[in-house]
Amino acid sequence: MSISEHPAAAPAARPAPSRVAAIVPAAGKGERLGPGVPKALRELGGLPLLVHAVRTLIAAPSVDLVVVAAPPGPEGVTRVQQLLADLPGDTRVVAGGASRQESVALALATLPADCSVVLVHDAARALTPVDLVEAVVGAVRSGAEAVIPVLPVTDTIKAVEGDLVIETVDRSRLRAVQTPQGFQRDVLAQAHAAADPYAPATDDAGLVEALSRPVRTVPGHAEAFKITTPFDLILAEAVLRRRR
Ligand code: CTP
Ligand code: MG
Repeated sequence: MSISEHPAAAPAARPAPSRVAAIVPAAGKGERLGPGVPKALRELGGLPLLVHAVRTLIAAPSVDLVVVAAPPGPEGVTRVQQLLADLPGDTRVVAGGASRQESVALALATLPADCSVVLVHDAARALTPVDLVEAVVGAVRSGAEAVIPVLPVTDTIKAVEGDLVIETVDRSRLRAVQTPQGFQRDVLAQAHAAADPYAPATDDAGLVEALSRPVRTVPGHAEAFKITTPFDLILAEAVLRRRR
């Protein structure tokens, strides 16, 4: 028997390393941006917002796989497949749903079993720096169950009813929340399983909070802002010009 045939000579099997998957909800209409194609397909510097966002995730050393929730319907899915075909890296497409929460849940259900860390990142945050992605993954890898990037709120915030001010909220405790948000996969899956489809949450960390599980914060970044209105698109064009 040669040494290679001897079972005792085989190297000890090591457990497969856990991988990081990034889900990109991109199925929204972009109603606040105004009429046109779905927001994720609107162009910034000649490329769709979605392509900017996916490129960043592919460029992040810690991310192994990107799953995009495309605008539902054959046209949206086909268009996104075409856009991703030109990019390097392991990218996949699923049809998104009627709410952001549903789009994330549909993508989450397709992840390979070895992805134990999951990021959820809005296509609309097209200019998010790679370093922010790495910081979120780093915090999850260090043991946090759920991690969100946050920034202090700069405006004074007041609660109103109609045009009447009810109170001024203590700004020092408030944070504006960004993506990517990072999770231990089992915690995110539990949170989505318990979520109310009729009152969808606007972020995934909110679903984890509803389970009374801890959500940690890391410092966000100004350039991870969400492109929501026509003004945001002008701002994003300016940021991109300055980068280039
Ligand atoms: N999103 C999604 N599925 C939906 C709704 C939203 O995947 N049914 C995604 C959007 O494509 C976006 C992210 O969730 O990348 C954040 O949502 P938002 O900024 O609200 O985008 P839209 O819903 O497209 O914009 P609007 O609310 O103005 O229509
Ligand atoms: Mg929306």
